Amino acid sequence: MSHLLAVFAHPIVGSYPTAVLEAFQQPFRDAGYSVDVLDLHHEQFDPRFTKADHAHFWGGPVPQDVQQMHRRVEAADRLAFIYPVYWWGMPALMKGWIERVFTGGWAYQFGTGVEDRGTQDLPASLLPSIPTLLLGIAGSTKRTYAKYGYDAAMRTQIDVGTFAYCGITDVQSHLIFDIEGDHNAPNRDKGLKEAARWAREFLSDDHPVRNAKEDHLIAQKLNEGTSVTLG
Ligand SMILES: Cc1cc2nc3c(=O)[nH]c(=O)nc-3n(C[C@H](O)[C@H](O)[C@H](O)COP(=O)(O)O)c2cc1C
Repeated sequence: MSHLLAVFAHPIVGSYPTAVLEAFQQPFRDAGYSVDVLDLHHEQFDPRFTKADHAHFWGGPVPQDVQQMHRRVEAADRLAFIYPVYWWGMPALMKGWIERVFTGGWAYQFGTGVEDRGTQDLPASLLPSIPTLLLGIAGSTKRTYAKYGYDAAMRTQIDVGTFAYCGITDVQSHLIFDIEGDHNAPNRDKGLKEAARWAREFLSDDHPVRNAKEDHLIAQKLNEGTSVTLG
């Protein structure tokens, strides 16, 4: 199986993020991958966490549209998320996709059932570690991200808190910075080249397998200046 699922959120065909999506998926097509582009705007995915989602959270059936998304994820052996950064994170549309699609009993578990949540020390993650790459497109500069730690905050919350939590520990994230306005045309060009390069490295069978959770815990411990215990 050589199949990429590329989840994408931008409303305008022909926008720069669309060009990034194109640049990213071309190496996959060249390598013989099939590519499923899940364009959340185009498919009119409803990101609202509905009563049906809430009922499922408490033991009810998985909503039909969420089941379809599960099948699309399961078909992939590479996942990519390509999005414009909105308020130092994913657009609400993509965040809502994760809220609805990364369901208990499919992506993670918290207890053996709804009645004993948190009473047993069970491994929380249920997904296999499908190699995953996140690519955010940012209006601000790398310097601003570094100054405030926005990129680190995004990695903590998205890479570790969402993907690795669910078992996708082989997750990496990248940002293309400073792409707005005519004067930043060179940055946009550079971003397209970087997207293609990240794609080529990512699809390669010998891409270095990451464990984002362990890397994060090691970095945390180093920051605390204490010895490292993983778990
Ligand atoms: C609602 C909104 C919030 C944004 N928040 C951020 C942000 O927090 N950090 C950032 O670097 N860029 C931010 N931007 C800039 C976008 O990431 C950038 O304009 C986009 O990736 C470029 O594509 P576009 O102009 O084709 O939409 C924001 C843009 C919008 C519309």
